[in-house]
Amino acid sequence: MVPVTASSARITGWGTALPDKVVTNADLEGSLDTSDAWIVERTGIRERRVGGTTTGLGIEAAERAMAMAGATGDDIDLVLLCTSTPDETMPASASAIQLALGVRGGAMDLNAACSGFVYGLVTADGLLRAGLRRVLLIGSETMSTIVDWDDRSTAILFGDGAGAIVLERSDGPGAVRGFDLGSDGSLRHILHADLGGTIEMDGPEVFRRAVRIMVESARRAMEHAGVTADDIALFVPHQANARIIASAGSKLGFDEARTANILATTGNTSAASIPMALADAADAGRLHAGDLVLVIGFGAGMSWASAVVEWAR
Ligand code: ACO
Repeated sequence: MVPVTASSARITGWGTALPDKVVTNADLEGSLDTSDAWIVERTGIRERRVGGTTTGLGIEAAERAMAMAGATGDDIDLVLLCTSTPDETMPASASAIQLALGVRGGAMDLNAACSGFVYGLVTADGLLRAGLRRVLLIGSETMSTIVDWDDRSTAILFGDGAGAIVLERSDGPGAVRGFDLGSDGSLRHILHADLGGTIEMDGPEVFRRAVRIMVESARRAMEHAGVTADDIALFVPHQANARIIASAGSKLGFDEARTANILATTGNTSAASIPMALADAADAGRLHAGDLVLVIGFGAGMSWASAVVEWAR
């Protein structure tokens, strides 16, 4: 892959949305043979939010991102919604978001499971290079609709939520400095949900593969960007399991101070987890203009995607 030497996208706004309903580990103890202590120790998750629709959460997050970017619907050339839990099979849920926000441009959904947002980021960056002015990139999921709430091995893990960013075309240095995208379809069976069905997962196998894939993919993205882990201000991995984050982080050289982790309050929100973790870090003052951020998604497919992103605000 050719290294990316100049970029044409800048992140100018971000926002998140969560449903009101909180489901704590103690709540799950009531319906499943599990315990708060087991869930916290094995996953780092303490509670998750449940409810809403993928479209509704996406609209709420997008409105916040657009307000911060000072953009109206007229300014957006494309709504790119990353989700594996659309509200309908057809049309794309992005079209309902486009209508609600008065966006004049196009709208489409992208499904790469938990890697979706980083796939979307790289796609948006390419479209901005091709001539679009602004892309509204959203990760929004209602994982609760495809979870088997009687299966303790998966019900404890997932939550609902959305995160959105506005990406603008820029002639100067910008968002995506290097990336790596990948997929191994021979591993589709270790994490999947049939049409109309619920999530089935070989957790330990996903865990093992995830750590290896994240480390290899991150190294390739950093190499393409011409940077090392020392140059990265913040490591923002997909939020699936605190032990996966810690294991991949320590192999790459990121301690807790340089790692985003919102798992305790959100659980795994699939394509929404990275934009929500990014927004959380930015709102907490952990990101400054010029900082380099390493985002890594991995998930069903198996799919993976890493990118080195320059923070612009
Ligand atoms: N409460 C109590 N005990 C449990 C629970 C639970 N919720 N779930 C499983 N157990 C039990 C098992 O039955 C097993 O019992 P046994 O030893 O008597 O057989 C024991 O705990 C250990 O089970 P493991 O599955 O080996 O536990 P592990 O430490 O691997 O943790 C987990 C399970 C949390 C699912 C972990 O494997 C994991 O996080 N895997 C990665 C999952 C992931 O990241 N998925 C999302 C990918 S992103 C996407 O695309 C959606």
